[in-house]
Amino acid sequence: MKIISAFLAILGIAALALVLAPQQQSPTTELRSSTQCLECHAGVAAEWQDSHHAFAYENPEVRKLSNDFANQECIACHAPQPVLTFEAGERVLARQSQRGLGVDCLACHAITNGGVATSNRQANGDAPCRPQFVQRMDSVQLCASCHNQHNTVEQWRGAPDNLKGNNCLECHMPQVFRQGGRRGRDHAFPASHDLNALQSAVNLELSWVNGVPTATLTNDGSGHNFPTDERSRAADLQVQYQVDGKLEEWQQLYRFRDPYRDETDLTNTQLPAGESMSFDLRADAQLVVVRLVYKTNPFMSDADGVVVHIKTLANDE
Ligand code: HEC
Ligand code: HEC
Ligand code: HEC
Ligand code: HEC
Ligand code: HEC
Repeated sequence: MKIISAFLAILGIAALALVLAPQQQSPTTELRSSTQCLECHAGVAAEWQDSHHAFAYENPEVRKLSNDFANQECIACHAPQPVLTFEAGERVLARQSQRGLGVDCLACHAITNGGVATSNRQANGDAPCRPQFVQRMDSVQLCASCHNQHNTVEQWRGAPDNLKGNNCLECHMPQVFRQGGRRGRDHAFPASHDLNALQSAVNLELSWVNGVPTATLTNDGSGHNFPTDERSRAADLQVQYQVDGKLEEWQQLYRFRDPYRDETDLTNTQLPAGESMSFDLRADAQLVVVRLVYKTNPFMSDADGVVVHIKTLANDE
């Protein structure tokens, strides 16, 4: 009996010692490569791997235009050093290693003292990657380092409040739930290569207005101009009429686009956030069909573009 209680006492002291001992930190991991993050953050990793951020260095379109990165200027944002090691607004520089990972975890999260940045004040600072609160993680400043060369951030600043939200994350990193119910942010960044994202950007309406078929395109879902960023993007509004029972060829109504600098004969025709544009169409056709075709490259044929919206209006008279 004595032996048992002595044993229990020792156990008790041991347990107490465990409780009173300074909180044992989980071993911190020295973070040298984003491949380490992928192992512990499988959910985020899967989303990121499908994103254009992960693809930024291998992307054949970028390879082609940069002459396989012989143009070294192109490496900076497509295989960047961590943005948080630069001042907000400063241009990022290219990194020397693991360029194949493109815009990787370290590019957005690494901070100079070795931890990772988060805007979550409740983050577990004892986790192996030592998350630390950094305000810039929840701000347009993070994206602006790479995404303002074609004024997307300036366009966003001028957007109406209902589209603007707090910042870019509102639309581009919607809330998801991680294992254990922790709130997370989607890292897939769907945009112009994703039909759902394109459909949510603008609304196409086709209706009779004072006896005239009228097509109206409204930017009611993009927090910046449509289409934004890359000057190569083009969105074509097109119409097709049925006359005497026959469908005619598609005709171009309008191209929404920010032209290249050397296309001096063209002006910027992007559709700003919250704005609409209307087009009067022929009233004598039996059928009017209007579609919006998105092209990631302005020289693309209609067939290679993506039909974002298509609407039909019959003349019942
Ligand atoms: C050895 C495993 C491990 C590695 C490697 C690791 N993490 Fe973590 N990380 C964790 C754990 C565990 C947490 C705490 C998760 C929780 O609270 O549910 C965490 C938390 C975080 C958070 C804070 C989440 C929040 O808002 O609460 C961020 C951001 C983060 N990690 C990013 C990274 C990045 C970026 C890398 C690579 C540079 C990385 N982690 C590498 C295990 C790891
Ligand atoms: C200041 C940062 C920055 C620099 C420097 C930069 N890019 Fe980019 N690039 C971006 C961003 C941000 C995007 C994504 C924008 C978008 O999708 O509209 C992008 C997208 C692209 C795309 C479109 C990819 C696709 O799949 O549609 C191509 C092509 C491209 N860049 C080529 C280049 C070339 C060529 C250079 C060098 C002349 C270059 N970039 C330099 C930031 C940069
Ligand atoms: C370190 C530079 C960098 C930072 C920081 C960055 N991006 Fe990107 N982003 C890029 C590059 C480069 C691409 C284009 C990759 C490609 O297609 O080759 C891109 C692509 C995208 C795309 C997809 C475009 C498409 O063509 O599908 C979206 C959306 C996007 N970024 C939004 C954001 C947002 C929102 C933030 C801020 C939270 C952000 N990015 C931060 C460099 C960056
Ligand atoms: C109200 C929602 C919303 C907000 C806020 C928003 N975006 Fe977008 N963004 C979209 C939608 C929808 C698209 C796809 C259609 C398009 O190009 O406009 C898009 C497209 C993009 C693209 C891809 C262009 C391409 O060529 O692939 C980039 C890059 C981008 N946004 C960056 C940003 C940045 C940076 C911010 C913050 C300054 C931001 N967005 C704020 C909804 C939003
Ligand atoms: C383009 C920038 C960017 C890239 C690339 C990026 N993140 Fe994030 N990450 C963010 C932002 C912005 C947030 C949301 C703000 C915050 O929580 O601080 C975030 C949030 C997180 C969180 C907490 C929320 C959640 O969803 O669980 C984790 C963990 C995380 N990132 C890990 C990673 C890992 C791992 C990678 C690489 C696979 C990665 N991130 C790549 C910008 C990025």
